Amino acid sequence: MTAEITVIPGDGIGQEVTPAAVAVLEALDIDFVFHEADAGDHVHAETGEALPDETYELAASTDATLFGAAGETAADVILPLREAVDSFVNVRPATAYPGVDALRPETDLVFLRENTEGVYSGHEDRLSEDLSTLTRVVTTSASERLAEFACDFVEDGDYDGFHVAHKANVMRETDGRFRDAVLAVADERGVETEEVLMDAFATHVCLDPTQFDVVVCPNLAGDVLSDLAAGLVGGLGMLPSANLGPERGLFEPVHGSAPDIAGQGIANPAATIISAAMLLEYLGHDAEGEAVRAAVEGVLEDGPRTPDLGGDASTDDVTEAILERLD
Ligand code: NAI
Ligand code: MG
Repeated sequence: MTAEITVIPGDGIGQEVTPAAVAVLEALDIDFVFHEADAGDHVHAETGEALPDETYELAASTDATLFGAAGETAADVILPLREAVDSFVNVRPATAYPGVDALRPETDLVFLRENTEGVYSGHEDRLSEDLSTLTRVVTTSASERLAEFACDFVEDGDYDGFHVAHKANVMRETDGRFRDAVLAVADERGVETEEVLMDAFATHVCLDPTQFDVVVCPNLAGDVLSDLAAGLVGGLGMLPSANLGPERGLFEPVHGSAPDIAGQGIANPAATIISAAMLLEYLGHDAEGEAVRAAVEGVLEDGPRTPDLGGDASTDDVTEAILERLD
């Protein structure tokens, strides 16, 4: 069956790295139908809303969505898009590839981030001139759903087990619920787990990232700690992600619209192209996903490289080099 893919470049470098990833998908011998859709700051400036209904509907009905980045409207775009695909987990691998001048070249871990609740559940209030509050939502059901996914992930990937990062020593009720639910599922499934306090994790992962393979975390912690890990593996241009739901997925680089380099044609397309490889694998095109990964890894090792990785190549140069390896 022909898979339908929604493509949302968004703002800034999203407009540069998304076409690069689409060019890679188009170069494969797979009959995808692409639906280009709009979202982000530039749409908001024109129409007053950052995420048009048509874009939401496409993401909610096609098999997979490839998203670039949004700017200031990111929360208004990406949170509803994740909801559109009913995504309960954000898979964020942080891998230091050979040839990349990484702070910690031995890093190879993957975050499984809770994707629906925590402090990103949208319950914020301004109670007075002086006081704003946020309600943190944690449910046993969402935590268990994440834990079931984590157990499958560990079993399928032949990992020894997973770490669960939390701060249940302070947030006893919410992170306590998260931790207890995750550990109970893992225990029932016979999957080994180790707890780590999320602040301590930040130190440990910098000092010795080899201690970690799979890290299960609440929403905000996953967001922050994965950016930290990006710093260990060569920067934000290197981190892909997959937001997975029961029937569809949304694939996006972890980085934002990078206004400091947008329009210069020098954004690193690796994060988005590896996200496209995750999309391929999600849709069952494992061989093609593997070929794309190998092409990206080859170019990271031999060059050309974009300036964030110490080179002077453009996004197009790197994309061309990846396409040549796919030939
Ligand atoms: P950012 O990820 O856009 O950029 C942070 C730094 O990393 C910048 O110096 C940028 O040049 C560099 N960088 C990021 N991706 C790169 C790539 N592919 N190649 C080379 N260098 C790269 O984060 P920042 O600056 O905090 O936010 C900029 C805008 O992006 C904000 O408006 C923010 O709201 C939005 N944002 C959107 C996200 C999304 O759409 N998922 C995620 C994070 C931020
Ligand atoms: Mg982030």
